[in-house]
Amino acid sequence: MKTWLQALPKVELHLHIEGSLEPELMFALAERNNIALPYASVEDVQAAYDFSDLQSFLDLYYLGMRVLRTERDFYDLAMAYLERAHGEGVVHVELSFDPQAHLSRGVELAVPFEGLRLAMREAERRWGMTTALIMSFLRDRDAEEAMAVLEKAAPYYEVIDAVGLDSAEMGNPPAKFAEVFERAKALGIPRVAHAGEEGPAAYISEALDVLDICRVDHGVACLEDAMLVERLRKSQVPLTVCPLSNVRLKVVETLRDHPLPTMLAHGVKITLNSDDPAYFGGGVLDNFVACAEAFDWDRDTFRQLAGNAIEVAFMPESRRQALLKQLAAC
Ligand code: HPA
Ligand code: ZN
Repeated sequence: MKTWLQALPKVELHLHIEGSLEPELMFALAERNNIALPYASVEDVQAAYDFSDLQSFLDLYYLGMRVLRTERDFYDLAMAYLERAHGEGVVHVELSFDPQAHLSRGVELAVPFEGLRLAMREAERRWGMTTALIMSFLRDRDAEEAMAVLEKAAPYYEVIDAVGLDSAEMGNPPAKFAEVFERAKALGIPRVAHAGEEGPAAYISEALDVLDICRVDHGVACLEDAMLVERLRKSQVPLTVCPLSNVRLKVVETLRDHPLPTMLAHGVKITLNSDDPAYFGGGVLDNFVACAEAFDWDRDTFRQLAGNAIEVAFMPESRRQALLKQLAAC
């Protein structure tokens, strides 16, 4: 099964590029930029990645990314990830990034944009891999700051495929960002948002109603609300589920307890993604393989999941058709 899953043309829709920072690169960049890390070794870093919830992860996620200072750092980060993803049979990656987490450290907006864009172009040139860029807002900071970032990003509107919403979910409901997302909509920028990861099903409904999102990131809490499940089934709004992330952040106890099979049985449009591969135990292929082991899914199920992601990705129609053809031959 693993060989077959490897060859399946996989599309990654939910990836925080800062969450792809492997400990080895973290140390290399810390040295290059003369930044002190509170870790003695790679093993020390890995030992620290024992999370009790989303916040305990976010604390280390923001700590680790302090080593990212220059365009070259962001280029190296993205290039390392895109190369690994290519090796796993991933054919299209949508990178999300958190500009506020960099601006607050004095790293200007142009730095991540330029560095990431360079790596995205390089991946296309080298491997024919396609990519998209999602600029995410931090929901645990105020909406005015998010609005200021959106305005500041004006020179990059053409290269922003969507805006997103991430970071600490509880107590930071989608409606807090109503105006920001309304402005993005007026600018013609598509919208996605994390909802129903740690937060309740009501946050998913609110994100659909108030933020007018085209995809729900995570969304695993949807089963709490039968009417919402029916809405998701009818509308086929996709959910970017991240199984290994949910295990590591204790959203579920083990992968076998994950609601994925039930969500699928209800006809919800599911995709499988890695979220923060350096922190959660692997990339897209690892998530596919883990699900194969936990749920004993057959090839048709994986064809459907891979197909869902191709159908809803931010990519040119010609590319979509070519990938669907490639998938049908698997
Ligand atoms: N959830 C919310 N915010 C995040 C995550 C996540 O899993 N990863 C990076 N930012
Ligand atoms: Zn996420």
